[in-house]
Amino acid sequence: MKSSHFNRRRFLQASGAAAIWIPTSVRGYTTAEMQSFFVDGQMQVDVSKWELDTPALCVDLDLLETNLARMQTAMGANGIASRPHAKTHKCPAIAQMQMDTGSVGICTAKVSEAEVMYQNGIEDILMTTTNATRTKINRAMSLAEVCPGFIQATDSMDNARLLSEAAVARNLVADVVVDVDPGMGRTGTPPGQPALGLAQLIDQLPGLRFRGMLSYDGASQHVAGFAARRTRTLEAMAPAAETFELLQQAGLRTDIFSGGGTGTYNIDHETSGLTDVQVGSYVFMDAQYLEIGGEQDDAVYSDFEPSLTILATVLNDQYAGRATSDAGAKACTINRPWPIVKGETGISYTSGSDEFGTIRYGDNASRTYRVGDKLELIVSHCDPVVNLYDHIYAIRNDRVEAIWRVAGRGMSA
Ligand SMILES: Cc1ncc(COP(=O)(O)O)c(C=O)c1O
Repeated sequence: MKSSHFNRRRFLQASGAAAIWIPTSVRGYTTAEMQSFFVDGQMQVDVSKWELDTPALCVDLDLLETNLARMQTAMGANGIASRPHAKTHKCPAIAQMQMDTGSVGICTAKVSEAEVMYQNGIEDILMTTTNATRTKINRAMSLAEVCPGFIQATDSMDNARLLSEAAVARNLVADVVVDVDPGMGRTGTPPGQPALGLAQLIDQLPGLRFRGMLSYDGASQHVAGFAARRTRTLEAMAPAAETFELLQQAGLRTDIFSGGGTGTYNIDHETSGLTDVQVGSYVFMDAQYLEIGGEQDDAVYSDFEPSLTILATVLNDQYAGRATSDAGAKACTINRPWPIVKGETGISYTSGSDEFGTIRYGDNASRTYRVGDKLELIVSHCDPVVNLYDHIYAIRNDRVEAIWRVAGRGMSA
């Protein structure tokens, strides 16, 4: 550790003292220790990320900020807005950065995520999943009561009636969009007349205010090759675009037509009427997205930088051709492709065992590891990885600059 005696002293003074234990070891600061160094939003002790106890989830701030800026530049050029999906990061600090850099709001998948975002200062929230049960509807309406910027999706007439009843019972008019299915058959109402009929009902119901629609074409996001992805999403989204036109022709309020994702962010503006993209993964990127290829680079999707990594420590180096780390399925998930060892070549990583990661050396491996060595992994799929951690270490130039709570962690209800 490059110790900063001044910072340490200042921290000890500020916190009234010698009772605070500062480890002399240069490796393995626990989250509790790191939190004790993070006072009033400032790190009081200079800690290298390589000194963190592991497994640890880290985000590189320069890369994160680059991703935010690139998205906003693209949105500006394409004349639409971003409404990033907070299901990816579940972290209010990142949602706030997205708002500060020009997003019109954030999305959440779950009402519990929406509650957490609101409790942490985010006030423009589009919940993209329908609340199907009375319990969820009541939670959503309680949120709508205090958060005027909360908008929820609905996908059936029965559900819209339930929403309206719950809103009327609270003397409330709740903002609603219709979720239109782009052919996935997963959620939403079919495009065309069914969606129009639902929108017209919402417009009539006393407890609801119709705001527009969303249509998320998840099936196109990871299609390999920019041209194939473009063709597929524009075809899939065409019925949704026609539906949006129908809503407009019917004289309904249509300020929102939200859709798209990281794979199609630079195509979505070609879908007529689309107002904003619900991009999620672009903030972090992951191995799944890296391999789909971009408009400029067919081999690697390099539009955004992989900012999210897991730090792991080598536990065993006794066997030929391999080593074992402390980051297995519970730290990395078992999503594929497997995590990528950052900055190295010829080394593969698998996280199939609960507690252990397997490092394998190819013929051209750029290095080998000894027990205690640390390595950094680009995550396989960012969303479920984030959901495994209570905190993200925010890193700049390899030093820990902040510790962010993943406040929406486990908020799956
Ligand atoms: C409804 C919805 N919108 C947007 C996204 C964001 O997608 P991505 O992470 O590909 O940007 C997702 C991700 O699954 C989603 O479910």
